[in-house]
Amino acid sequence: MSSVKYAPRIHAVDLFCGVGGLTKGLELAGISVRAGFDIDTSCRYAYEANNSGAEFHSTDIRNLRSEDILPLYRDADYTALVGCAPCQPFSSHASKNQTNVSEEYSLVGEFIRLIRDCKPDFVSMENVRGLSKRPIFDVFLRELGTMEYEYDYDIVSCRDYGVPQNRKRLVLVASRLGKISLPRPTENRSTVGDFIRHLPQIADGTSYPDDPVHCTLPLSDLNMRRMKQSKPGGSWQDWDDDLINECHRKAYYPASYGRMRWNAEAPTITTQFCYYSTGRFGHPEQDRTISVREAALLQTFPERYEFLNEDDPISIREMARHIGNAVPVKLGAAIGETIVEGTHVR
Ligand SMILES: C[S@@+](CC[C@H](N)C(=O)[O-])C[C@H]1O[C@@H](n2cnc3c(N)ncnc32)[C@H](O)[C@@H]1O
Repeated sequence: MSSVKYAPRIHAVDLFCGVGGLTKGLELAGISVRAGFDIDTSCRYAYEANNSGAEFHSTDIRNLRSEDILPLYRDADYTALVGCAPCQPFSSHASKNQTNVSEEYSLVGEFIRLIRDCKPDFVSMENVRGLSKRPIFDVFLRELGTMEYEYDYDIVSCRDYGVPQNRKRLVLVASRLGKISLPRPTENRSTVGDFIRHLPQIADGTSYPDDPVHCTLPLSDLNMRRMKQSKPGGSWQDWDDDLINECHRKAYYPASYGRMRWNAEAPTITTQFCYYSTGRFGHPEQDRTISVREAALLQTFPERYEFLNEDDPISIREMARHIGNAVPVKLGAAIGETIVEGTHVR
């Protein structure tokens, strides 16, 4: 007798959804993301163009109420509330330059408020490692315990989920249904070459006609001379003396002004990947930084993910911010699979 496998309807809502890296990953895992909420309206186009079932709401999370979320869970067998609050206040850079971060801290508090008010079956949060050492994270865990969630969290390496990057992130999953565990490492390690070697060649500062997202900011004449002397995996230390400034020698990141290597993973794709000075963001062999499309592929977005509305274009810098901020899609999919597995405990 054949048995039909029952696929539960899991409805999710994505807080701080950006352009939808996490939403797309959950969707690939079989979760129906009903809506994303984010304050940045420039994310709307990419979010909706690539995630057909999910509506983008331009909202400050501080103004969001359970009445806005609960109707989105109608007809669901299981519900999930996921969120990836802005990382900047918890990054290593921020902890060295303590500024007024209380407002951003409060966004994690807003996430707790919405969990308390909506009581989803599942919760997931992703953030930079630094959050795990902040008091607000202890509050988050304590609140989950009080609400009788079981949870698991750790610093994970995205390379263990098929992302060709040395990107480490704090991931938490929680369930009201019973025990839940972080996603198990899923794939063999992949490299820069696996993800971007097939793309057409483009000159510095140009875009590819068939894919305007395959584009870069132009290098200055000085930086072009530096780029030509940069070696894959190297840095400013490869240049002739007359190209080196004193500030380079003092630079905190020895890998600034570097090129990637085909056969290695990429560095963490940050919001600054469109600049040559901010990391090892040089293309392995062409004299330019990686393009916006290449960065998106290294973040494991699908090949044709749309970031640019040609009727209302945004800048390369804005696309870089969207992509560098995103949860890598493959990490999102691994989180989604954990949530799907979590429904089997009932
Ligand atoms: C780390 S990014 C999220 C990335 C997204 N999860 C993805 O995978 O593409 C954080 C997001 O929080 C948004 N944000 C910052 N403050 C906010 C607020 N008060 N209310 C809503 N969204 C906010 C930012 O616009 C940004 O898109």
